[in-house]
Amino acid sequence: MSNDHNSLVSILALPGAAPLAARLAHTMQVEAGAVAYRDFPDAESYIRIDGDVAGRDVVIVGSLDRPNDKLLPLVFLADVARDLGARRVGLVAPYLAYMRQDTRFHAGEAITSRSFASVLSAHIDWLITVDPHLHRFASLQDVYSIPAMAIHASVELGRWIAEHVPAPLIIGPDEESRQWVDVIAATASAPSTVLSKVRRGDTDVVESIPNLEGHRSRTPVLVDDIISTGETMVAAIRHLREQATKEPVCVAVHAVFAGDAERAITDAGSSRIVTTNTILHSSNAIDLVPLLADAIQNPSGARRRLDDRG
Ligand code: R5P
Repeated sequence: MSNDHNSLVSILALPGAAPLAARLAHTMQVEAGAVAYRDFPDAESYIRIDGDVAGRDVVIVGSLDRPNDKLLPLVFLADVARDLGARRVGLVAPYLAYMRQDTRFHAGEAITSRSFASVLSAHIDWLITVDPHLHRFASLQDVYSIPAMAIHASVELGRWIAEHVPAPLIIGPDEESRQWVDVIAATASAPSTVLSKVRRGDTDVVESIPNLEGHRSRTPVLVDDIISTGETMVAAIRHLREQATKEPVCVAVHAVFAGDAERAITDAGSSRIVTTNTILHSSNAIDLVPLLADAIQNPSGARRRLDDRG
């Protein structure tokens, strides 16, 4: 999407995403279109695009945390944009839901990653997201049948840590985190280690911590892609505290914060919790709007930069 196409682009917000859509539109110097949402008395949804999208590239913007209430408005919005003549309809979902149930862990379970992806793929032409939880899927293309690009916040996390945490020690809570721990540590010019984690249930997580002798003067910085129940962070903090380290800082990309997660992490002994603004939350301190705008406007450049980082 080049700059000469800017007048042919409309950014439309999902419910609750108007501030993010406005900032993206401002950064990209394109129009932020208005969408009216309301519920009928029987709780069905009413949606109206105020403005002309005929012949335009429509970019729907909104994170898909708490996804069930957002999915139908998204489907209705994508469909009406196309009905009204939009050329292409893309989705920028800084947080992409349903990526963690990526296999049948127990007999009879739904593999919701696949179902969710097939619904989205049927209604939109392309997808951009940030650090989707890719564990058993190697890439988004394993589940999404449309062009789907994942951009990564690791460099931004590393820069924030370098600027705000003196003498950090970067710690990943599990093997899966190694993919971003190495980039964050290199960006922050800091040593790093990765723990091993066993999840015994939704809210039951056990961590093993390597010996941190030799790093006691450093501030531990726990880094993860998602804070959901907070149990992963809490388990890691408890073990760090047993080793008498300094109070850890917790840094994550996606501030899902289910239930009392934030309080549990603070009570466990974290000195500060910091997240990016992929999901609006009071812990947001790392702005990814420039990264998102760049990926929308210059997808091949964004892809090249990701490839360069391996
Ligand atoms: C799991 O592999 C992820 O990277 C996160 O560690 C996990 O999703 C965090 O979830 P919770 O906050 O519920 O422990």
